Amino acid sequence: MLHLLSIKERNMKKIIAIATFTGILLASCTPKTSTATAPVGAAQSTAEQIAQGKTIFENSCGRCHKLPDPTSHTSVKWVGIMNAMAPKAKLTDEQHQWVYDYIVSVKK
Ligand code: HEC
Repeated sequence: MLHLLSIKERNMKKIIAIATFTGILLASCTPKTSTATAPVGAAQSTAEQIAQGKTIFENSCGRCHKLPDPTSHTSVKWVGIMNAMAPKAKLTDEQHQWVYDYIVSVKK
């Protein structure tokens, strides 16, 4: 009986310790004043990024074949084409996005 009690007591201490720790965690998770930049992928590319996309497109996409016409494919088809061509042109993920956004912007 005594032994059992001491186990219970130890468990209680553990529970208190965990509760305290959780409290600290929760406290440290409360949002600080937001310094975060715009969420990646959520926002549309800026005009500057689209202009960069145009430059990259003109410099990288006419090397192996004629510079493709953005209006010759649907924006959905361009997703697949860019997935195939971005690695060929050795674009970074950002450049891939900018070129795609440029292409789609031409089509509008
Ligand atoms: C390293 C060479 C190379 C580079 C750089 C390259 N392409 Fe291509 N591209 C190809 C080849 C080869 C084909 C034809 C065979 C194929 O579809 O894989 C092709 C085909 C295409 C097609 C026709 C696809 C179809 O379904 O009709 C388009 C559009 C295209 N590329 C766009 C681009 C764009 C946009 C870029 C720049 C991001 C680019 N390419 C950069 C080699 C390249």
